[in-house]
Amino acid sequence: MEGVVVARSSISYVDGRQGRLIYQGYDIRDLAEHATFEEVCFLLWHGRLPDSGELSSLREQLVAARPLPSGVVSLLASVPGRSPMAVLQTAVAALGLYDAEADDNGREANLRKSVRLTAQMASVVAAFHRLRRGLPVIEPDPELDHAANFLYMLTGQRPDPTSARVMDVALTLHADHEFNASCFAGRVTASTLSDIYSAVAAAVGTLKGPLHGGANEQVMRLLMEIGEPERAAEVVQARLAARERIPGFGHRVYKTWDPRALILKRFSEELSRLKGEPRWYAISLAVEEAVRSAKDLYPNVDFYSASVYHLLGIPVDLFTPVFAVSRISGWTAHLLEQYADNRLIRPRAEYTGPMELRYVPVEDRP
Ligand code: ACO
Repeated sequence: MEGVVVARSSISYVDGRQGRLIYQGYDIRDLAEHATFEEVCFLLWHGRLPDSGELSSLREQLVAARPLPSGVVSLLASVPGRSPMAVLQTAVAALGLYDAEADDNGREANLRKSVRLTAQMASVVAAFHRLRRGLPVIEPDPELDHAANFLYMLTGQRPDPTSARVMDVALTLHADHEFNASCFAGRVTASTLSDIYSAVAAAVGTLKGPLHGGANEQVMRLLMEIGEPERAAEVVQARLAARERIPGFGHRVYKTWDPRALILKRFSEELSRLKGEPRWYAISLAVEEAVRSAKDLYPNVDFYSASVYHLLGIPVDLFTPVFAVSRISGWTAHLLEQYADNRLIRPRAEYTGPMELRYVPVEDRP
């Protein structure tokens, strides 16, 4: 489906030649500089920025929705911890079981569910991480905004202002990206008029793959394997010679810098300095130089988000769940759009199999 336009959408636009990303008319660079993640959620869901009353109201709704149903906490305490994305997908389906509005596909009910899901995805990831470490789940802090509260519930520490701001911008940068694979999977599910939890569970399962959101974890594992900037060129060259892909590089749509990667690159440098761990930025930079000199490939959003998340104290196997903690805002915006003007998404395939074969009883088959 490369380059195929499958629907009209007013939510976001990717200009792959100019390296621009637009949410509902606003350039991502402008939003990253000035907006909060809560404002971006409102923008994606409603098509405009909120006034101050609407923003306060959304903040209150998100805070109120943060606690998880006790049944979901028990589930998180009992599941094996091997695959956090599979746990997240399971938890999303479970949240639907505890939501009396789960099967109401009206816009107002789906808006309320979008708020709840956005609040609760963060709580799920944080609670799961605490429970698998044998630590108590941390109650959300209503004074903190969404990004800072997530870091607090995950680590038990209230983040310093720079870390809180970087997390907030990272959530904004990952919030939406047009008809990417996970968004499309969610929209296909919604187009059957299945419920929003089912659609989000489909999107989470799609984001998990290493060609999509799963790449950020692979990037960090690569940086760790490289260990020091001087080894970057050698490791990159060996991987390319073996025709392996370098995670965090290349994109189906961007044929230049991904604007999100440029912003995250700055944060990677800033946090590396602030946290006294300069090597993660230095290794990332050396990998970028090695890949760029070997191939016409640019870093995508996953490349510099890896070192940023690591420097924020997020465990590597939670990088892709953290992507979902942000992308839930964009997924739900797309689902609202899909339900508002739905037609079943049912493409065709070009058949390449045989025709006119005759059934042969099993005992007569050669
Ligand atoms: N490393 C090495 N070579 C690459 C990479 C890479 N990361 N990406 C593309 N290429 C090469 C391909 O081998 C191919 O070369 P060839 O023509 O000599 O065979 C050429 O570039 C074109 O690649 P395609 O596979 O046709 O590009 P496609 O649009 O299908 O792939 C994708 C896009 C999947 C993102 C790819 O670039 C990739 O695998 N990247 C690594 C995984 C990754 O970072 N995914 C995250 C994407 S962003 C996101 O989803 C949030």
